Amino acid sequence: MDRRFVDCHSHVVPSGDDGAATIQDGLSLCKSAAGHGTAVLFATPHVWPYFTLSDEREVEIREAHERMRPHAGLELRLGFELTPAQALLQEDPHRYVLDGTDCVLMEVPFSGPPDVLIALAEHVEAAGLRPVIAHPERTEAVLEDPSIADDLAARGWMLQVNATSLTGRHGPEPEELGWSLIERGIGNLVASDGHRTTRPAHLDEAHALAEQRLGDRALSLFDGSALGVMPLRTASRAASTGA
Ligand SMILES: [Fe+2]
Repeated sequence: MDRRFVDCHSHVVPSGDDGAATIQDGLSLCKSAAGHGTAVLFATPHVWPYFTLSDEREVEIREAHERMRPHAGLELRLGFELTPAQALLQEDPHRYVLDGTDCVLMEVPFSGPPDVLIALAEHVEAAGLRPVIAHPERTEAVLEDPSIADDLAARGWMLQVNATSLTGRHGPEPEELGWSLIERGIGNLVASDGHRTTRPAHLDEAHALAEQRLGDRALSLFDGSALGVMPLRTASRAASTGA
């Protein structure tokens, strides 16, 4: 299959959270993603308020990533997914960037107000980095008041919609809101948030649906252009044409 997707959000590197439990499980998820068109996959272990990134955990995650990389069947990069917490406001966010970009992935909390998210995004921006805000369409706050998403986007922050929202996995409300964000140009990119074989890191089905609705514009939501990441396939073509 033609591999052209860049997926900036997944849980394929074992890290003690609710993603892949073992390197073997993680590699199966990577190979499955490659078989469904993904060229570059970011593993983004959770950084939760009650399960932070200790130095010891970070070493283990980076070692697991290094062990997996040569066998993943795609370009496997590392990042993190931050759940907003006051303690993160005291840290240098460069620690959490998506490899090879100037972007930091953070989620809208599933419940409660987005105040700490906004403070964290401001903190990231003040460090010269770009916030990428994960799955607003799945959260209580934005479902209740979609104008919150407009406000986040108006600040120049990127909004990442989950592929599984667009395919209806999370029910009709996130599906409708996810499509609305994309069709209004507020949602900038789509990622899998893949965790396990029953929730794999696939983008092809959502991309096919997006193509039906948006035509050629759809690919820009899936190809890493919002992040400034260029899949290898495109890079090698550019090199061969001297571009
Ligand atoms: Fe996630």
